[in-house]
Amino acid sequence: MTPPTRPVSRRGLLTGGALTAGALAGAAAVTAARPDDPKARPADAVPIAEVGTAVEPFHGARQAGVATDPQAHAAFVAFTLNPGTDRAALGRMLRLLSDDAAGLTQGRPALADTEPELGLLPARLTVTFGFGPGLYAAAGLADRRPPSVADLPPFRIDRLQPRWSGGDLLLQICADDPLTVAHAQRVLIKDSRPFATVRWVQQGFRRAAGTEPGRTQRNLFGQLDGTANPKPGGPLETAVWVPDGPAWLRDSTTLVVRRISMNLETWDLLGRADRELAVGRRLDTGAPLTGSAEHDQPDFAATDPGGLTVIPDFSHLSRSHVTDGRMRILRRPYNYDGTPTPEGHADSGLIFTSYQADVTRQFLPIQQRLAERDLLNEWTTPIGSAVFAIPPGCPDGGWVGQQLLG
Ligand code: HEM
Repeated sequence: MTPPTRPVSRRGLLTGGALTAGALAGAAAVTAARPDDPKARPADAVPIAEVGTAVEPFHGARQAGVATDPQAHAAFVAFTLNPGTDRAALGRMLRLLSDDAAGLTQGRPALADTEPELGLLPARLTVTFGFGPGLYAAAGLADRRPPSVADLPPFRIDRLQPRWSGGDLLLQICADDPLTVAHAQRVLIKDSRPFATVRWVQQGFRRAAGTEPGRTQRNLFGQLDGTANPKPGGPLETAVWVPDGPAWLRDSTTLVVRRISMNLETWDLLGRADRELAVGRRLDTGAPLTGSAEHDQPDFAATDPGGLTVIPDFSHLSRSHVTDGRMRILRRPYNYDGTPTPEGHADSGLIFTSYQADVTRQFLPIQQRLAERDLLNEWTTPIGSAVFAIPPGCPDGGWVGQQLLG
């Protein structure tokens, strides 16, 4: 992505001209890559000095923010539609949101942006739209709702709170700069005001851009989290994207958002060996306990001299492992770290997100196995849950949702 090389005039900054030109030059450099293109540049390929001006494409057959190499910061904003928001009103709302999202992702301030300077550095901003079950009902299109886009069945490990659950519409806003995320969130919530109210917002983070180039991110338990994800160009293609069907389904996917609280204090009481047994992988390298490198295949049959399996049967790895490429899920989690209590107790965890073509076929069997028996359950508790369809993307001049509502 090419940073602006010309001196930036004060007037240019104030009118959004100068940096926008730089950001657009960046956009031109990557528009050859669609959001779903396996050749799209990974985050760590962006030189640190260009993190601010780096651009991800907004328009395309598939929405950005799914196969996109995860940005450092995220806000998940879920809305409840107002009673009067019907199919026509939804169309107006989504057109407005798409226009502003398209502009902001390319470094162009929103139409009525009151702080246009904050819209100039996209930092790989993506805005991904999700449709909850209530949106299909409000539009009178319940028959077009993908059947697996519904509340998950209850699991015995759940302690779900309404303040983190459900939602008719979701905006997943991700960028490598927290100010960019905050500004996009503000603009898009403003756009939505005549049509919907904010139901919940979850803000999360990963390592800052450029901090650990080429490495899998770590969660707050210190584990490498994301090792076994399907890779672009391979299983990701069949596992995540709906290949055919009517226009509102083709190139769509589904998203499960689970807010999972992590008890760092009881985790701290464990020795290192026990922590590694709970997951089945080493903390330093992320290698399976039967291997030496992160991407070594786990050997679930290997036993120790005492006859016990080296990777415990109830480890997170054993319970979540999937071999059939079409049954895999794409995890794109973010850490959260709220305000500790005055006594110093942490409010930390994972905004677990997973993308898959079909929630019932792919996500549910894994979640059921984990809920039945997963050593990690001792230190983790799901406190929020929501499911959304991620509709196809839109061409330049179009809007997200037009195949469904247009
Ligand atoms: C706070 C909760 C969780 C933590 C801390 C956690 C952590 C981890 C870690 C450290 C790994 C191994 C490295 C990797 O492949 O990424 C892993 C793998 C995995 N996790 Fe989780 N996880 C959590 C929740 C979940 C949930 C809710 C699901 C799905 C229902 C899930 C599904 C998976 C899958 C599919 C794998 C890859 C297994 C494989 O094929 O090797 N995880 N997780």
